[in-house]
Amino acid sequence: MNQPLPFINRRDFLSKTIAGTGAGLVLGAPNILRAADPGSADTIHVALVGFGKQGEVLFNCLRNIPGLHFQAVCDISAFNLKWGMGQVRAFQRSSPKGYADIDDMLATEKGLDAVVVATPDFWHSPHTVKCLEAGLNVYCEKMMSNTIDGARAMVKAMEKTGKLCQIGHQRRSNPRYRFVLDHLINGQKICGQIVNINGQWNRSLGSSQDIGGEKLHASTIVPDDVLNKYGFKDMHQFRNWRLYLDLSGGPISDLGAHQIDIFNWFLGAVPKSVFASGGNDYFKKREHFDNVMCIFDYDTPQGGVRAFYQVLTTTSAGGGFWESFMGTEATIKISEIASSSAIYREDGAPPWDKLVERGFLKRKPAPPKPPPSADSVKSYESAPPEGFDLPGGFNKPAHQPHLENFFAAVRSNGSVKLNCDARHAFLSEAPIYYVNPSALTHQPIVFTTEQLSV
Ligand SMILES: NC(=O)c1ccc[n+]([C@@H]2O[C@H](COP(=O)([O-])OP(=O)(O)OC[C@H]3O[C@@H](n4cnc5c(N)ncnc54)[C@H](O)[C@@H]3O)[C@@H](O)[C@H]2O)c1
Repeated sequence: MNQPLPFINRRDFLSKTIAGTGAGLVLGAPNILRAADPGSADTIHVALVGFGKQGEVLFNCLRNIPGLHFQAVCDISAFNLKWGMGQVRAFQRSSPKGYADIDDMLATEKGLDAVVVATPDFWHSPHTVKCLEAGLNVYCEKMMSNTIDGARAMVKAMEKTGKLCQIGHQRRSNPRYRFVLDHLINGQKICGQIVNINGQWNRSLGSSQDIGGEKLHASTIVPDDVLNKYGFKDMHQFRNWRLYLDLSGGPISDLGAHQIDIFNWFLGAVPKSVFASGGNDYFKKREHFDNVMCIFDYDTPQGGVRAFYQVLTTTSAGGGFWESFMGTEATIKISEIASSSAIYREDGAPPWDKLVERGFLKRKPAPPKPPPSADSVKSYESAPPEGFDLPGGFNKPAHQPHLENFFAAVRSNGSVKLNCDARHAFLSEAPIYYVNPSALTHQPIVFTTEQLSV
C-alpha cells in the first residue's frame, strides 16, 4: 500500500486526468497558441453555431486547443455574428465565413469536421440532428433540449449516423470531479456508504434579473421577421429565452442540469422517483418557477439514497453552487469552484494520514475552538467532522477539458471515448424533465422504464 498513487503532484494531476491535446500547458493568456494551418491534413475544421455569451466562453477555450481551424460562424443576430467573426479573425488572422442560417451554412461549407452548438436550448435538438445527419461531429451545450423528445432525437441521430456527439456537461471532464469519483469514491471508498446527497445553485436577485428587450442600441436589434422565423416573439424573448416555457426548461434545467447530472454520474444510477415543489415566490410574472426544491430517490447496489436539490434565484445563501455526497465515513462537497470543495471525515472513520502523505488530500487547519456557550447541549452533539481539502484547482478555463476530450475523440478514430456522449447525457438528464411536472401537480412521479428511455 506504500506504492505512490496516481495523482501525487499537480503536474501529474493535470496531465494524467485530461484526455487530449494541450494538457499541462499554462493557459489563459490570449493567443499563446498559433492558429492551425487550414491546409494541413491534421487540422480539424470547425463551425461555431450561436456566438452569444456561452459561444464566446467556448471560443475562448477553443483557441487554446491546437490544430483547430474556425471555418464558419453562424448566428441569427447580425451583431453577434459580426462580433464572433471578429474574434475568430483576430485569433487566426483569416476570416471565417459568416451565416445567419444553419441550413445555408451546411449547404455551402465543404470540408467541415465538427460543429460547436451554443444556441438557446430549444434549438439544440434541431441543430444537432441536422449537423450529425450532415456527417459532422457535434459538441452541443447542455441541457440537451427543452423537451425530452428533442433529447431523444439527438441520441437517435448520434447512433444512426455513428458521428460523435458530446453534451456540454463540462464537469464530466473536470480533473477534480474525475479524481474524486475514480480515486476517492470508487477507489478508496472513502465515503463508506453514500446515503444522502445535497446540492444547490442559489443565485442572488441581482444575478437573476430579466435583462429586458427595450431601449437597446440599434445595432443589436434583430429585425422582427428574423426573430419570428427563428421562434422568438420579440427582443425580450430573444434576450431572455430562459424565462419562457416554450424555449427553456427554466432554472431546474438551466442550472440544475449541471448538478443533477453529477448525482447520477457519481452514483452510477438513475433515480426511481422525484418529488418536487416550486413557485413564483418573488418573480411573480415569470412563466417558469423562480425557486424549485426536489428530492430524488435511488436504489443502488449499496442501498437507498435520497438526493435533495434546490435551485433558488432569489438568494445566494449557502455559498452558491455545489454538490455534497454524504456517506457513513465521509462527506465530499464538490464544486467547479475549488474553494467551495472540501472533504470531511466522520469521527470513528479510518484515519486518512496515508492519503494525506500521498498527496490525495490536504489537512485543513483546525478551526479555532468556540468559547464555551451557555446554551450548548453537548450530550446530543456528534463530534464535528474533521475537514480536509480536495486536490487543487487546475489552470484552465472550466469548459476547456471537456472540449479537449471532444476534439481528442474526433482525432482519435475511436480510441478516445467521449466523457459525456448524448446517450449518457440522456440517461442522466431524463429525470430532470419530470421535476417541473411534479412541482406543478404537487405529486411525486415514480418513473417507468419508458419515461427514462430513448
Ligand atoms: N455549460 C455551461 O456552463 C453553460 C453556461 C452558460 C450557458 N450554457 C448554454 O449555452 C447555450 C447558450 O446560452 P447563452 O447564455 O450563450 O445564450 P445567449 O442568448 O447569450 O446566446 C445564444 C446565441 O445563439 C444565437 N441564436 C439563437 N437562435 C439561433 C439560431 N436558430 N441559429 C443560430 N444562432 C442562433 C443568438 O443570436 C445568440 O447569439 C444555452 O444552451 C445554455 O444553456 C452553458
